[in-house]
Amino acid sequence: MMSNLLKNKQPLFDNIAIYYDLLYDYKNYKLEVLNILDLIKQFRKASTNTLLDVGCGPGRHLQFFRKHFNCMGIDVSSKMLKIAKKNAQGVIFQKADMTNMNLHKKFDVITCLFSTIGYTSNYTMLKNTWQNFYNHLNEDGIIIVEPWFNKETYKIGYPYMKTYESEEVKIARVNIFECRKNVSILDCQYLIGIKNKKLKVFRDMHELGLFDINKTLKIITNIGLTALYLEPNSLFERGIYIAVKK
Ligand SMILES: C[S@@+](CC[C@H](N)C(=O)[O-])C[C@H]1O[C@@H](n2cnc3c(N)ncnc32)[C@H](O)[C@@H]1O
Repeated sequence: MMSNLLKNKQPLFDNIAIYYDLLYDYKNYKLEVLNILDLIKQFRKASTNTLLDVGCGPGRHLQFFRKHFNCMGIDVSSKMLKIAKKNAQGVIFQKADMTNMNLHKKFDVITCLFSTIGYTSNYTMLKNTWQNFYNHLNEDGIIIVEPWFNKETYKIGYPYMKTYESEEVKIARVNIFECRKNVSILDCQYLIGIKNKKLKVFRDMHELGLFDINKTLKIITNIGLTALYLEPNSLFERGIYIAVKK
């Protein structure tokens, strides 16, 4: 069944899909994938053939994962999926919402990277989503999730700016890190200048849950997984959750 997210409104990332790779051009996806491959080797004893990337965005991790696994990528944004299909050929893509997905398939590895899990916004949705990951995981499978910030690491009140600049394209995105109870609010204003086009100004509002690490680990273990949280490092600045079936 389609969730409200897919039925009622255009998914948030549709607006910025074509600018996403420019804004995040500093990210070293190849190195991230190499690190994740090491984690898989370290924590999963059986061999791995299949991988599902949840909230795959423009498919930049899948571009490298596809050399090691039969891959599938899901996302709520059709525009992201369209770009992902070009970036990661040979991968199966499907429009699906992680909070209620049923893909009728199971995987050896499930990844959910660069804070996509934060879009669950509250603990009930977080729990449902981890349950969905569990339901799609083979025996001996492994789940790797890179979370959003938590209440201790989220810098409430601070302004944040992300820019991209080339001769023909200039992008600026500014927001203040706001917070309402356990939810971080990113009211982002964009200014986009492209050669020979009218200046584009728009706004989008991101709401991501600020989930406590211990509470999250409890949710994951209650589902039937053994889990641990790896502290942030220079590559994964928000840490990593690793979970395997008990
Ligand atoms: C911050 S981007 C991360 C994209 C990609 N994983 C990366 O590392 O570049 C978050 C992605 O999650 C997707 N997303 C948000 N909520 C989702 C949901 N409920 N189910 C599936 N995808 C979702 C967005 O459309 C967007 O592409």
